[in-house]
Amino acid sequence: MRPSDAVATDARRRLRPAGIAFGGDYNPEQWPEEVWAEDVALMKEAGVSMVTAGIFSWAEVEPRPGAFDFAWFDRVMDNLAGAGVAVCLATMTASPPPWLSRLHPEILPETADGRRMWPGGRQHYCPSSRVYREHATRLVERLADRYADHPALEMWHIGNEYGCHTPMCWCDESAADFRRWLSERYGDIGTLNEAWSTAFWAQRYDTFGEVLPPRLAPTFPNPAQQLDFARFSDDALLRCCLAEKEVLRRITPDVPVTTNFIGVYKHVDTFGWAAHQDVASVDFYQDPYDQDTHISAGFVFDVTRSAREGRPWMLMEQAPGAVNWRERNGPKPPGRMRLWSWQAVAQGADAVLYFQWRQSRGGAEKYHSAMVPHGGTDTRVFREVRALGREFASVPQIAGTRSTAEAALVLDWNSWWALELDSHPSTALDQMKIALAHYRPLFEAGIACDVVPPDRDLSGYRLVVVPNLYLLKEPDAERLTAFVRRGGHLLVSFFSGIVDDCDRVHLGGYPAPLREVLGLRIEEFWPLAEKETLDVRHADGTISRADLWSEAVVPEGAGTVAEFGSGPLAGQPAVTRHSFGSGTAWYVATRLTPEAMRALTDEVCRTADVGPVLTGLPEHVQATVRAGDGGHFVFLLNHGQEPAEITLPEPMTDVLAQGAAPAHRITLPGAGVAVLTTR
Ligand code: GAL
Repeated sequence: MRPSDAVATDARRRLRPAGIAFGGDYNPEQWPEEVWAEDVALMKEAGVSMVTAGIFSWAEVEPRPGAFDFAWFDRVMDNLAGAGVAVCLATMTASPPPWLSRLHPEILPETADGRRMWPGGRQHYCPSSRVYREHATRLVERLADRYADHPALEMWHIGNEYGCHTPMCWCDESAADFRRWLSERYGDIGTLNEAWSTAFWAQRYDTFGEVLPPRLAPTFPNPAQQLDFARFSDDALLRCCLAEKEVLRRITPDVPVTTNFIGVYKHVDTFGWAAHQDVASVDFYQDPYDQDTHISAGFVFDVTRSAREGRPWMLMEQAPGAVNWRERNGPKPPGRMRLWSWQAVAQGADAVLYFQWRQSRGGAEKYHSAMVPHGGTDTRVFREVRALGREFASVPQIAGTRSTAEAALVLDWNSWWALELDSHPSTALDQMKIALAHYRPLFEAGIACDVVPPDRDLSGYRLVVVPNLYLLKEPDAERLTAFVRRGGHLLVSFFSGIVDDCDRVHLGGYPAPLREVLGLRIEEFWPLAEKETLDVRHADGTISRADLWSEAVVPEGAGTVAEFGSGPLAGQPAVTRHSFGSGTAWYVATRLTPEAMRALTDEVCRTADVGPVLTGLPEHVQATVRAGDGGHFVFLLNHGQEPAEITLPEPMTDVLAQGAAPAHRITLPGAGVAVLTTR
């Protein structure tokens, strides 16, 4: 059966939004049908061009096993098509219905200490569960068959935030799946024993049948086993997504697919997954109580854009105002929602969507803001949403344009998993904090930056920043070395290049695979006690503080840029610089203050001849460029509270300020946005 005839179904005619898609999660099942007509009317009023619908509709479309009821959803789709709103249709598999876990309790996930997670929340399925996947793909097949030719169908939204609540499962079915995954990876048990260093602590396995996930153990479970379990768990989630994608490709080969990432999330390797998406999409919830929330957002947006080599991406979820899941949940002050939405576009997004369209009356998210709040349309939130929807609609030419960067920051999920394992010199190392400590000075200096995996072609960059790349494969180390040899500039931070793919130390002096390019050797790791700090003496005689970590650096060609000024390593290098081939490699053996990190990054950028998008930018003003067939756009975003004056290199026009004349100077109010062009 096909959707109702109320809407002409011209097969393959889709409602692709012409410019920047704008909208949100639409959950009409939470509301009586009388509300739906108002929904689409308000969507038109607010400039909504796309919604993502059906995310949590499984129990409503399949109320009993195999008994499908799509009639109500047909009406939802028809209404949307009638209003010209495109649908990013969810596959509805994010939260299994109660009957499924009642009939098959074995789908429920288990924790490392053997506790079962029960239904009553959402995402209560073991990623390895065959029963879950069978039921999920059966539903997807019905859904795809039914809506394949529906004019509202624009793209598919597979699952929802994979791994958000259940990134890993330690149940017996996961254990069996883990063993199958390991036997594919290693082929024979001897190779696994070698890879996992099981000669240590009598862990030698005789058969794959003896291997378990790293369940609660008396002491540290084998680190290589933990690392492989992180890889396996990521892969088990990906296989859920791909099982659905396969069905969708078979039935609707020309409809693009995506799934929404949870920011930059430890359990889901954005780079690995993005290769399977037609468009990358991400959810990011700025925290209005966090002064630096735009910097964290910047990092996440750069990762998402870079994951598909700069192609436009989607901000699939953000909040119009407050969320409900932090300890304190305040609204976004006036103008911030607009500013942060434009930030996504400035960093390459072609879609800005929210969670959710209409604020829930009941359920766990009733205090989460929505585009249509409990108070209706005569509210600040709705007014700001409507104004933004109209603003985006006025500049369709931005969509499809792209940005370029001369700097890249390297991020690797394998290394992240390995870095944060237990039984290390310090358990205080946090991959995201170190990555952000390196990203922040680039962001603040206005330097366009991609974030890339270590096996990406680096030849297009002048500067590559490598924060804590603890696990480093030889070929990736060779790529970094060749990058510098050919004239690139490399900045590496401490505890990088230490172990191989199986968490075994690279022998020959730390960090063996990077020693040549860095021109040094590390003799001992010297992590600092909690709250302990050290002096770092810089070349100009100034002293800054450092914390978290230090290392005994033995230069082997590298020159000292700064040295430890106190503590057991006083007088030894804290920051080094090595001329190698036609390039330069810098090394930071401790965690510098943000100010010292900024000064170092500025120096490295100067050496690398990497400059900002616009010079002379006031503090708190972000500038980015997107260019393409639609034009050349300079985005200016004032993340500060105070007005900022910006001098432009040539007279430019703000495309958001109707009728404005070209100007050489622009004043941006606090939270202000301008999109400038010379045309
Ligand atoms: C996301 C999720 C949405 C909603 C939102 C609230 O994690 O995908 O369904 O729960 O958070 O912020």
